[in-house]
Amino acid sequence: MCGIFGYIGPKPVKKILIDGLEKLEYRGYDSAGIAFMNQKKAEVIKNAGKVQLLKEKLDSVEIVSTIGIAHTRWATHGQPNSINAHPHKVGNITLVHNGILENVSEKRIWCEQKGITFQSETDSEVIAALIYLAKGNTMLEKIETALQDIKGSYALAILCDGEEKIYVTRKDSPLLIGIGEKECYLSSDLSAIPKDIVEYLFLEEKDIVILEKDHFKVYQNGKEKLKQPEKIKREEKNIEEMTYEHKMLKEIEEEPEVITRILNHYLKKQLPNLEKYSEIHIVGCGSAYYAGEIGKYLLETYAHKKVLCEIASEYRYKNILYEKDTLVILVSQSGETADTIAAMRKAKESGIQTLSIVNVLNSTIARESDQVLYTLAGEEIAVATTKVYVAQVLLFSLLTYQMLKEEKEKIREEYSKLSFYIKKTLERDQEFKEFAKILYTKKQVFFIGRQIDYALAREGSLKLKEISYLFSEAYPAGELKHGTISLIEKDFPVLTIVTDSSIFEKTLSNIEEVKARGANVLTITNQKTGNLLEIVLPKIHPFLQFFLVIPCLQKIAYDTAKLRNCPIDQPKNLAKSVTVE
Ligand code: AGP
Repeated sequence: MCGIFGYIGPKPVKKILIDGLEKLEYRGYDSAGIAFMNQKKAEVIKNAGKVQLLKEKLDSVEIVSTIGIAHTRWATHGQPNSINAHPHKVGNITLVHNGILENVSEKRIWCEQKGITFQSETDSEVIAALIYLAKGNTMLEKIETALQDIKGSYALAILCDGEEKIYVTRKDSPLLIGIGEKECYLSSDLSAIPKDIVEYLFLEEKDIVILEKDHFKVYQNGKEKLKQPEKIKREEKNIEEMTYEHKMLKEIEEEPEVITRILNHYLKKQLPNLEKYSEIHIVGCGSAYYAGEIGKYLLETYAHKKVLCEIASEYRYKNILYEKDTLVILVSQSGETADTIAAMRKAKESGIQTLSIVNVLNSTIARESDQVLYTLAGEEIAVATTKVYVAQVLLFSLLTYQMLKEEKEKIREEYSKLSFYIKKTLERDQEFKEFAKILYTKKQVFFIGRQIDYALAREGSLKLKEISYLFSEAYPAGELKHGTISLIEKDFPVLTIVTDSSIFEKTLSNIEEVKARGANVLTITNQKTGNLLEIVLPKIHPFLQFFLVIPCLQKIAYDTAKLRNCPIDQPKNLAKSVTVE
């Protein structure tokens, strides 16, 4: 959700803010804006649309200021137009906000009674008004008073006319500060801060930080607290120049490399031993949840563990009767997903051990969980996750592998070829394009499969709908005839996954059922089904077979979205990191 960025130091702020916003644009891209100090007053420039439009608007504006804040928005309250774009200014207060103010109606009415006329429909402008109206002798006191009884989440960067400072605070929403030589950056995430910055402040909930050019102070409950910056080693590699048409395509192509990196790293290590837990809960959202579904299948089938896999937004509000020896595994690319964070905290409050599988280093989930396994996939920019999903399922596979009692040698041998198999699968571009040619003209698609093939189908279907805007639904193949088959008519596309040989015949019968009603069946299989349109994958060890289906589904979704001229890396209404509930 929304990206926040800011700078205070000796350098002119315009380029720095735009560079920061461009890196954060994956978090939201419906409008963008900046504010900078100009002769002791904060001046705001903003507009609807992507950062590129703001950049063009700023081309003709000379900005000498060296203090500024910036925002790229994913709308929660109010349309994505220029009035609702951030920053918001009320009186002498200008701010950018990420999060949601839950008691907004009550607070808005209170501010209006005090004479405020709001310009926008946003909850963020209400926060600016609350700070403006708050009692207090200093900005610090005003911010504390204003935030005292607001409900919801926030990451805020605030300017006050007449002051050469940036005030920064957060609650349930990510924000960190990079400390350089007489300069400070603030950002929703590490990736937007220049790589030569090595010292970082990770804010605790409700910390208020006052940034000045050459120093910072951290406050909690009105009192200054000593907080040392942490040294972080950033990835050496700069984001490569775009040689691919889309970042999603680049990230899919990186999968063989990610697999090799993970295996080299983790096969040598002792992973957390799941043997000792009587029950495992896997929790995540979207693709991370679907990766968890694969994990559940592997742990149940091969390690005979009792596993519950749940969507985080449901799990957090459930009445869960924890067994004493339960382990909760949180799966998240960003490590900042609000619902997954809440699920983690729920488990921790009940005294339950937590293990996270996270991609972004030092993210909230990585820092707060009892143990963390990093997915080592490198930066993932496209909103639709691809290489990180592969990395997540590989970690589940490795956690299961170490508990295997049989065939460990054989499987280890097969692991060493996995990267090659994925590379070879990715070369079958023509076949993916054939599938896409059929799908892109349709209005809806079904994905069907059984067992692990169904878990794969769910992610394949999500991938297709999020980037191609085709309605798509995944169903357990055996469940269709209990209602949904009534939708099947002539030429209705049904993408079927059949790789699990133990239920091969059963899925074939389901294929016949939909064919008999005119469906246009496309299959991904490791054993010929006789279907006209099918991708036949090589048969590998059943423990790893499912891996080969993943790039096929990702590429089919990609090719279909391309034929439909969709903005693949930044689909409408979505953001990469969902930091609000
Ligand atoms: C994946 O393609 C989606 N964009 C989305 O479902 C994502 O997996 C989900 O929002 C969870 O994000 P996280 O992994 O950062 O927690």
